Amino acid sequence: MTIRLEESTDWHTIYSIYAASFGQSAEADLVRSMNSDGDLILSLVAHADEPAGHIAYSHLGLHETPDVRACVLAPLAVVRSFQKRGIGTALVRHSLKQLVEAGYDLVVVLGEPDYYGRFGFDPKLAEQLKTPYDGPYLQALALSDRGRAAHGPVSYARAFAELK
Ligand SMILES: CC(C)(COP(=O)(O)OP(=O)(O)OC[C@H]1O[C@@H](n2cnc3c(N)ncnc32)[C@H](O)[C@@H]1OP(=O)(O)O)[C@@H](O)C(=O)NCCC(=O)NCCS
Repeated sequence: MTIRLEESTDWHTIYSIYAASFGQSAEADLVRSMNSDGDLILSLVAHADEPAGHIAYSHLGLHETPDVRACVLAPLAVVRSFQKRGIGTALVRHSLKQLVEAGYDLVVVLGEPDYYGRFGFDPKLAEQLKTPYDGPYLQALALSDRGRAAHGPVSYARAFAELK
């Protein structure tokens, strides 16, 4: 199996991926709202024999360190029948490389530390921030020295407030 990754806001494909991994469309709705609000930074689709996974990043505002370019990783999903074949890892690694190239300093994610820890995400770094999701599942990854200095209150993209 080869994986092809492409930047995409092909909604039919993105909705089908979330339906086949989470069994619901709330995460695809989130991506679509972030896009229409102008908050979507990156949207990547992994294709195996068919669309197999998706990852998105959105703008994160830092009030006390506004020179830090930060973003939120969410959502991420791999279609159940394609899980545990490295597609999630490929999506995360490829997208982080693109964010470094684009000059981002910091990425924040809410998820399983056992999963995101393998990419270097760290709950300790996230403790410097004040977010609506503070706790052990909030993790951050610095992509630069500036990112390591980020602290204080943050603003997520508006669409997160609509998530149930
Ligand atoms: C989490 C997810 C994106 C991983 O994608 P994937 O393509 O299966 O992942 P990979 O094949 O790259 O990596 C698989 C590894 O991740 C581990 N893993 C998968 N889900 C995990 C989880 N929730 N917590 C901890 N580890 C997890 C697997 O055990 C496996 O470990 P191993 O490499 O030691 O065997 C995918 O399982 C998924 O879409 N799950 C449902 C949606 C979801 O939970 N998304 C948000 C994640 S917070």
